[in-house]
Amino acid sequence: MSLKEQIDLTRLPKHIAVIMDGNGRWAKQKGMNRIFGHTNGVNAVRETAEACAELGVEYLTMYAFSAENWNRPQLEVSALMTLLLKTINGELKTLLKNDIRLGAIGDIDSLPKGVAKELREAIEKTSHCKRMELILALSYGAKNEMVRAVKQIALKVQSGETSLHDINENLITENLYTAGRPDPELLIRTSGEKRVSNFLLWQLAYAEFYFTDVFWPEFNKEELYKAVIEFQNRERRFGKTSEQLATGK
Ligand code: IPE
Ligand code: IPE
Ligand code: MG
Repeated sequence: MSLKEQIDLTRLPKHIAVIMDGNGRWAKQKGMNRIFGHTNGVNAVRETAEACAELGVEYLTMYAFSAENWNRPQLEVSALMTLLLKTINGELKTLLKNDIRLGAIGDIDSLPKGVAKELREAIEKTSHCKRMELILALSYGAKNEMVRAVKQIALKVQSGETSLHDINENLITENLYTAGRPDPELLIRTSGEKRVSNFLLWQLAYAEFYFTDVFWPEFNKEELYKAVIEFQNRERRFGKTSEQLATGK
């Protein structure tokens, strides 16, 4: 049986989040520069998005550039921004053809003006697409996202629009960049690193974590299937006991 056939389509994660890591090391291994790794990483994004859409996953969030990544060498940052612009332009047709809606989370205003503009236009042009939302995390940091949410809520309390009494988990969820989307059930990180690197700290509260040693440019549909199969083999207890899950009590 192929890997794809081993997946139970009735128990798919609705939302998968991916920390795409290892582009630099992959390139280095090949005697190439880091930018070469990023360029090749785009193919893996395409494959992963396609695989998820084909399976019926509804949301796919990909960590493409963290708030901390601004601290990389200037040359690498600008190459990444150029690549991002090129990719958004180049993939727009494919997104429309595959009925995939583009989304973004993070401090989009901090991106170079041209990139932010193209991104917003692509989001707008694909807003009617229904099959899946592909959400790019750009200049994203979870701690910063929470600070922003707290400020937004504080403003509403100050203006009288909300009262202290109304502050609950839902209100916080609604004030995050990810508002309106379900929490990811599966987090994938490539390249062997086992950390969250300031990604979706609130939203990953009950996600299953899947780590693979594969470097991001080598990630593909088959690797995605492996992660989904592993996810389906986990017992998600949400604080309960195995016995409770078995008896439904
Ligand atoms: C992930 O690959 C891509 C980004 C963070 C933009 P890296 O560039 O982090 O690659 P490594 O971790 O140095 O190998
Ligand atoms: C995390 O990767 C960010 C992205 C994948 C965009 P990094 O390679 O920047 O993470 P750290 O700094 O090694 O944890
Ligand atoms: Mg890295």
